Amino acid sequence: MSFSRRDFVKTSVLGAVAAGLGPSAEAAQNDNAQSGSYKRPIIICAHNGFNYLEDAFAFLKNGGDTLDAALRVVKGPEDDPNDTSVGLGGIPNEEGVVELDACCMHGPTRRAGSVGAVRNIKNVSMVSKAVFEHTGHVMLVGEGAERFAVDVGFPRENLLTDHSRKIWLLWKEYHSRDWWGPGLTDPHWQPPLDAPQQASPQKGEPQQPERGKPQSQLWRDRYRRLEEHAAALGIAEEDRAEAIHKVLFPPTGTIHCSALNEKGEISGCTTTSGLAFKLPGRCGDSPIIGAGCYTDQDVGSAGATGSGEENIKVAGAHTIVENMRHGMSPHEAGMDALQRIVRTYNGDMNRLRFVDMIYYVLRKDGAYAGVSLWEGYSAGHPHTIAVHDGSRRSEVATPLFKGFSQDFPPEPKVPEEIRKQYLK
Ligand code: GLY
Repeated sequence: MSFSRRDFVKTSVLGAVAAGLGPSAEAAQNDNAQSGSYKRPIIICAHNGFNYLEDAFAFLKNGGDTLDAALRVVKGPEDDPNDTSVGLGGIPNEEGVVELDACCMHGPTRRAGSVGAVRNIKNVSMVSKAVFEHTGHVMLVGEGAERFAVDVGFPRENLLTDHSRKIWLLWKEYHSRDWWGPGLTDPHWQPPLDAPQQASPQKGEPQQPERGKPQSQLWRDRYRRLEEHAAALGIAEEDRAEAIHKVLFPPTGTIHCSALNEKGEISGCTTTSGLAFKLPGRCGDSPIIGAGCYTDQDVGSAGATGSGEENIKVAGAHTIVENMRHGMSPHEAGMDALQRIVRTYNGDMNRLRFVDMIYYVLRKDGAYAGVSLWEGYSAGHPHTIAVHDGSRRSEVATPLFKGFSQDFPPEPKVPEEIRKQYLK
């Protein structure tokens, strides 16, 4: 189906209005496909790849392979014990075991590889490449993937750092989550009675009066308990706010990277430790070819970070690449995939406010876009993408909706003085 820009703008506006909010004012601006001011080689990635872009760009410019360039970027956070969203030091599953997911696609040879729920191997992005290099398969998971990685030369190592172990212990001790309950998609799901009942466009803004208990007292007790646990576990004072936030609102950090060389060859990869404290064996979108990453040498490459389950259902990266094949710009293609997530929930903002997604979109000619469902997680911290096309920079992703996503699971609003005291 071909899709004109006018059709896209029309459905985008309608979708946003149906969802109860106006479309972002900037929605049509951040689109370098319109200005034509793009070039190659170019690498785009999630913000946590920023520090690794110089090296990867030099490698790409000197004739290095596009997938190897992208892997150089994501290897940085995988190796970094302080990045708790990827590789070594990733936040573990509910049993305290780090399980990693990754996939990649090599445009020039049209090959794909993927690994899911891998333990004890740090550079799973490179293992996903090894899958297509050494086997006729695309996806390996669990113990088999780990054994394969060791067989082809990857070292087994303990991925649980002391820092992540302590955050997990804090979560275990606090242990108020019920992962086995109905999810957001269950038709009978209801926010807790004492949670704010209306979509709130901005964290920290006045919300509906809360029903039920005296929340400020409840939060104060809860944080005091968490603080005491954190101190007893030996979590450094300066790390406690971050640890407490992760325990209350488990994150899904990830990195995606797409790289395009001067000749127009293009590749992409995505790697993650997935949802913090997940059920063992849970895979999100990152190892799913077509969801967390998709590359077509004829068209371009796309990847995602954010709510993995939502992205799987819209096959986000594949949807975006197909949209570009049918004529949409990178920006339009990404916005359409976001609209499909809105459609998943029939525009119900009481659910969508707990979902977030960032898409990284790179077209074969060098046009690119970063788009997100919401502006960011909180005021002053917008979603960004990192770009290198000769100059390295961070760019703010264009949001579909104005406002900020809310932490999941839904909690009653944290009183501002407690948020200031305990959370960043
Ligand atoms: N997007 C990463 C995950 O959900 O696992």
